[in-house]
Amino acid sequence: MGVDRSVNFTGIQFENPFLLSSAPPTESESNITRAFEAGWGGVVTKTIGLHPVVNVYGAKAKFMRTSPEDANVSMKKRPGAALHSSWNWELISDKTLEWWAPRIRRIKEAFPNKVLIASIMAGSGNDKELRHWQELAETAQGEGADGLELNFSCPHMDRRDMGSNIGKDQGLCSVVTEAVKEVAKVPVWCKLTPATADIVVEAAACFRGGADAIVSSNTFPSIPLIDPETLEFEINVDGLVSSGGLGGPAILPLSLAKMAQLTKAFPDKNFSGIGGISDFNQALSYFLLGCGTAQVCTAAMLDQAIGPNVIRKLLAGLDRFLEEHAKDGWKRVEDFRGIRRDRIVLQSEIRRPDSAEYYSGYETVEGYAAPQPEVAVRA
Ligand SMILES: Cc1cc2nc3c(=O)[nH]c(=O)nc-3n(C[C@H](O)[C@H](O)[C@H](O)COP(=O)(O)O)c2cc1C
Repeated sequence: MGVDRSVNFTGIQFENPFLLSSAPPTESESNITRAFEAGWGGVVTKTIGLHPVVNVYGAKAKFMRTSPEDANVSMKKRPGAALHSSWNWELISDKTLEWWAPRIRRIKEAFPNKVLIASIMAGSGNDKELRHWQELAETAQGEGADGLELNFSCPHMDRRDMGSNIGKDQGLCSVVTEAVKEVAKVPVWCKLTPATADIVVEAAACFRGGADAIVSSNTFPSIPLIDPETLEFEINVDGLVSSGGLGGPAILPLSLAKMAQLTKAFPDKNFSGIGGISDFNQALSYFLLGCGTAQVCTAAMLDQAIGPNVIRKLLAGLDRFLEEHAKDGWKRVEDFRGIRRDRIVLQSEIRRPDSAEYYSGYETVEGYAAPQPEVAVRA
């Protein structure tokens, strides 16, 4: 009996829950075409904007590896070393909206059953910038995009009103989402930065603005290592470096922690998980926490630019998992989505040996009431 890979996420029907995230794998028509032919259920385009984009001289992204021999993390290639992470300081697409518009249309005409989400970004400092968001949204949906992903998460923008600087400001998250929702005819997802004190605050602001889903994580702010011999950063231009983004296996547990905060705070909302996924086992953690779709970047970049083997493994893993759990009555992702969300609790709720009492680190003081356990989750 065949399994049912399909999901409905924010009202969009996907033939499978796996997307290429907004990044180099989705920067061109040829890449996206290859991705759909390889089996990806959807893609999120490389982020499209209206402001000028000029990338740094030289490499925009590199990979860090580590090995059991030296436990060192380095961009230097050495035999037997395993992938640790990707590091990048690439800006959004350097192609214009005019370049993207006909390509979105052609791709959708060629693949009507595949999902194309347009990732967009503008500023937020004034009404003109809010109109830019609306222009990007209207053009992309007019050309046939199935949904919009608002980039509130790019970690290397100098502009105070863009990228992760929006994602760090709950007021801006809400205002920009609302501006896009005013014109949007398709679902709107907000991609948040993991680099805030409490991602639940910014997610709540996006939901107040009308967001249909939250996407997390973009890359984590980070800098490359310094070569112990040359004393230079492993990636630099004229000896200089700026903060960039970490992706890949290293961020998987960090990103899962952010996602757990989100899905516990908003159990009835939609979430798309990203960070460190290269096969089904990792995607499964995101589904079990409550995500409805899963996105991939680093693993796909390393696999013929668009991840034909990655998607093959993701689909085979999903099929195998559903077949194994047919006995549990699970027929599709929706049947096991979120079933491990409630296993994340306060430290004080974890069993102690010998039934010792533990009051979250507080002392019980004679004559006073015992401290109340803190509330684990905001409603
Ligand atoms: C080289 C590079 C460029 C990226 N560009 C974008 C972008 O334009 N827009 C965006 O939302 N995310 C961008 N990302 C972030 C990825 O979409 C993804 O959120 C992140 O890499 C974590 O996923 P991973 O662990 O599978 O790599 C980029 C990542 C890399 C490595």
